[in-house]
Amino acid sequence: MTTGCIILAGGAGKRMKSERPKVLCEVLKKPMLGWVMDAAEKFGFDETAVITGYKREMTEEYVNKRGKIIYTYFQSEQKGTGDAVKQAKEFIEAAECVCVLNGDAPFIDAETLHKSLEEHKSTGAAVTVITAEISDPTGYGRIIREKNGKFTAIREQKDCSPEETEICEVNSGAYWFNSDALLRALPRLTDKNASGEFYLTDCVELIGGAQAFKSENPDIVLGANTRQSLLELNEKARQRVIGRMLDSGVSFISTDGVIIGSDVEIGCDTTVLPNTMILGKTVIGKGCEIGANSHIEDCVIGDNVILNNVQAYSSTVEDNVKIGPFAQLRPGTTIRKGVKIGDFVEIKNSDIGENTAVAHLTYLGDSDVGRGVNFGCGCVTANYDGVDKFRTEIGSNSFIGCNTNLVAPVKIGENATTGAGSTITRNVPPNSLAVERSQTKIIENWDKNFKRKKK
Ligand code: UD1
Ligand code: CA
Repeated sequence: MTTGCIILAGGAGKRMKSERPKVLCEVLKKPMLGWVMDAAEKFGFDETAVITGYKREMTEEYVNKRGKIIYTYFQSEQKGTGDAVKQAKEFIEAAECVCVLNGDAPFIDAETLHKSLEEHKSTGAAVTVITAEISDPTGYGRIIREKNGKFTAIREQKDCSPEETEICEVNSGAYWFNSDALLRALPRLTDKNASGEFYLTDCVELIGGAQAFKSENPDIVLGANTRQSLLELNEKARQRVIGRMLDSGVSFISTDGVIIGSDVEIGCDTTVLPNTMILGKTVIGKGCEIGANSHIEDCVIGDNVILNNVQAYSSTVEDNVKIGPFAQLRPGTTIRKGVKIGDFVEIKNSDIGENTAVAHLTYLGDSDVGRGVNFGCGCVTANYDGVDKFRTEIGSNSFIGCNTNLVAPVKIGENATTGAGSTITRNVPPNSLAVERSQTKIIENWDKNFKRKKK
């Protein structure tokens, strides 16, 4: 059976008070839409479509950035979830079975989708709604059942009778539809309800014989319509990731200010210290100490690495490296085994060879540095002439004296030395000393108060 997935992402999300589409509001620094798209990708649909609407360019940009083939359909006016699905008519026609997901309910997961599809197939129903029992159903569509338990309809909160609002089984906003049944129901939707919108949920009654798949995990329904609920989702997700980390042998002295993204992996015996954010597709090895006060994003970190007060983005750090405090790795940086990087060092788009030391107050940009190099305090690679950027090459075992400026493009040979305070503008051969500064001039018997006395 061919399966298609339609993710609803057209709503403005007025209650969120944002200038972005609501689905781009973030949970653990990942847009809610990204969570839903991840679940869809993990499930493995044959095709996926996203319905855009409010600020479509922003949603399309995000969808395209993911680099997968995803169809987008534009809903020009936000007339409700049913109207949104209508925009994907040709997409529905092309699949036998369609799963509709809300782009603002980030905790739906592939496992629930698999289980519910199994049930959808085995019962032979034309529509299966994923539901859950939650303690506070405010704002969700309620699952209406007959006395014998038969599921008949979904009633939106605004349209509920006082008794119906008491129902705690709610619609997750995730459904399986047989395509023919959905295509027949969509044109029959009306906007005669309290919101004046075309509700997708009305398809349940129109199609008839619907099944409810009640999820054991009530969190899968949680959505965010307001900043308050977005904050609650963030906290829930944060605790869940920390729980997963504890299970895999990661330690925390305190989890205060610790935020770990849902796609991060950390090895056993690594400790994460307070006020540390580890985000994106970061992978960290075993026995590391990460933090305090660090921000690590899209990095690959080896084993036994210490990152103390470090900011690192899209970089690789090999085993037994020590960085910090107060250092920054900018994108495109590789730090090889055994390197030591000290305070107030910034490294950008550079490769730093094994056992090299960059101990203090140094900027290395667009540089290829060999093994065992020692940088004195305050070295700078001048990689930008105001128009173009150039690379600096520094051979293994060289010694870059304090306060050296290396004006790129420039090469320092292996085992070479630069004198402190030199501004090097020419290539330096291996095994040589380059000094580029004037000789010290001595004026004896200099009276340092001479000027003051004259006054
Ligand atoms: C919807 C369901 C409700 C369910 C809840 C779960 C309907 C009518 N109600 O309510 O039963 O309990 O989700 O979270 O479906 N969207 C569009 N175009 C529109 C309107 C919405 O693309 O014209 C998108 C939104 O961007 C959002 C999703 O559809 O991602 C759900 O819309 P929203 O308005 O948040 O629905 P809820 O009121 O939460
Ligand atoms: Ca919602």
